[in-house]
Amino acid sequence: MSLKGKDLLCTQDWTREELIEILELAEDMQKERFSYKYSEVLKNKTFFMFFYNPSVRTRQSFECAATELGGHAQYLAPEGMRLKTAKSAGETVEDAAKVMSRYACGIGIRILEDKVTYYGEGHELLQEYAKWADIPVVSMAHDKFHPCQGLADVMGMRKHLGKDLRKKKLLQIWGHGALARSWSSVQESILISSRFGMDVTLAYPEGFDLDPAVIEATKKNCEEADGKFEISHDPYACYDEVDVVYSRHWMSPRAYQNGEFLKSKEIELALKYPEWICDTQKMKRSNNALFSHPMPVDRGHEVTDDVASGNRSIIYDVAENRLHVQKAIMALTMI
Ligand code: CP
Repeated sequence: MSLKGKDLLCTQDWTREELIEILELAEDMQKERFSYKYSEVLKNKTFFMFFYNPSVRTRQSFECAATELGGHAQYLAPEGMRLKTAKSAGETVEDAAKVMSRYACGIGIRILEDKVTYYGEGHELLQEYAKWADIPVVSMAHDKFHPCQGLADVMGMRKHLGKDLRKKKLLQIWGHGALARSWSSVQESILISSRFGMDVTLAYPEGFDLDPAVIEATKKNCEEADGKFEISHDPYACYDEVDVVYSRHWMSPRAYQNGEFLKSKEIELALKYPEWICDTQKMKRSNNALFSHPMPVDRGHEVTDDVASGNRSIIYDVAENRLHVQKAIMALTMI
């Protein structure tokens, strides 16, 4: 099986076997981190990174990934690139993507939250780059999906629960954060964990529904993998007997109105649900669950300090995994 040239906009677009190939290479790259085995894989090659939004982990882990493979990751700020937008003249995606394909081995793009005017606009931009580029386009988190995060999450669960995740119970739970986050990490998580046979409970207050198409795809994944999917609006009972608690705030479906991102309204709304915090009392209902989160963690809103920093928390392992899975993605798709 060759992954060469493949774009990665969402793990759902790849087969389970392809995802396992990435995970197994990432696990070996973790073991052999600084050995000569992988140190020249990307020699003399450059990966372009477009960041419309800020980042800590994604930028740092992609830069380190390229360095450790013997290549280079170049940071690009789109506002400095004279690209055409709905409001200004400039270079088209077609021209930009075709020229970049002459220089680099891959393109990463992050666009979400306040940098889109409606849900799905970021995904459309990535699809447009993927259409014109002759090199792989990788989502570094956009308004719909975050595939690198989803792979890092699964790598973390495989390490702590064993490689066979079938029938393990994942609680994907909303937290009353003050950051008005996009749906990307959460949607990616329920899609990929259901592909690996996990039972998925999605818990949130009424009014915070995710994309119906993603929910349908998750249900179908569960049926195909003999897993279960359920939605709960109970911030306590949903913890019963789960193996992994993954808390994350996400915005409501009303966050974008008439081309505007209503961030302060979203935060004001979210803070009306203080019971939606992951804490020690609720974790006691679980099956001694692991605590996971894609970070940055909104401590005191999504989760308490004692859980986020407790001995069942895998947040730093998962953050580290971003490096390993991205090295594997680059090695398998870009050379
Ligand atoms: N999880 C994640 O993508 O982190 P950053 O926003 O810091 O890149």
